[in-house]
Amino acid sequence: MSIAIMCSGGDSCGMNPAIKSFVDYSYEKGLQPYFIYEGFEGLIDNKIKKAKHKDVAGILHLGGTIIKTSRSKRFYEKEFRQKAFDNLKKYDITKLIVLGGNGSFNALKIFSQEFDISVIGIPATIDNDIYESSYTLGVDTALNVIINALDDIRNTSSSSKRAFVVETMGRDFGYLAAVSAITSGAEICLIPEAKINYESLEKKLKKEIKEGRDYILAIVSEGTKQTDKLVLWIQTNLKMQTRKIVLGHLQRGGNPSVFERRMANEFVIYSIDKLIKEKTKSAIIYKNCKFKFIDLETISNKKQVLNKKIIKQLKNMIK
Ligand code: F6P
Repeated sequence: MSIAIMCSGGDSCGMNPAIKSFVDYSYEKGLQPYFIYEGFEGLIDNKIKKAKHKDVAGILHLGGTIIKTSRSKRFYEKEFRQKAFDNLKKYDITKLIVLGGNGSFNALKIFSQEFDISVIGIPATIDNDIYESSYTLGVDTALNVIINALDDIRNTSSSSKRAFVVETMGRDFGYLAAVSAITSGAEICLIPEAKINYESLEKKLKKEIKEGRDYILAIVSEGTKQTDKLVLWIQTNLKMQTRKIVLGHLQRGGNPSVFERRMANEFVIYSIDKLIKEKTKSAIIYKNCKFKFIDLETISNKKQVLNKKIIKQLKNMIK
């Protein structure tokens, strides 16, 4: 029996440990593992290869993905999905694991409804925005990268009496910004899920400045599209020299944390066991310290909601 794995969408730390677990555990279970290179694009173009133990030797500690990834526009056309399925048939691949985020799960849902293939999506995105899952592969390392950057920025900020406005990724989900603001002790945090009260924030920060505060660290989630506005607001209203830093793709770098490596292994083992046991069209999620499967149909129509506790913890950073 043949089984394949691919990565789709933005890369995230934890993909390589997952790929290694996939190869090791597939062989242990008597399955023939295959790699699909470059995501759905590679599937359409038949970039499929038998996976061997030696392919995954020495990759556990690496960020990114050795089998590459892509965002595929062509996969949204039926003609190319047919091509993709025909390619899988050439290798007798009847089981497929996709490491990716919401867009990839949606593509996988459509594909599995149209063709006779058993599929599981493993949440792998730094955004941590998969419905019902409290964790996605890559978010832990991304947060550590952000926190290290913020610690460094605070050093220069406090030395030069400046404000720094730091933009984090996360699309329209404020998790990365909120958690990094809380754990770095930021003074301001802007996320799509919480409205900022500029009036009371100004009053509070002006009082602090009067009492000796001489620097400010502000974290903005890219989804707010308010980074430049906040820079201008600090300069104008708080009269503090302000610099903007967009962390960008740095957040997808780094080496997978220990937690990421453990979770990658668990996600893969649960998924392969399920694919061996039954036909499925699902995604695996992690909630309340347990692994669970949800239909792709259900998951792809729902949006993740930011935990209320996290929003509550931001109260001093938004007013
Ligand atoms: O979904 C992961 C993510 O890193 C988002 O946080 C970000 O908005 C987006 O991907 C960036 O995409 P790209 O790498 O295609 O520029």
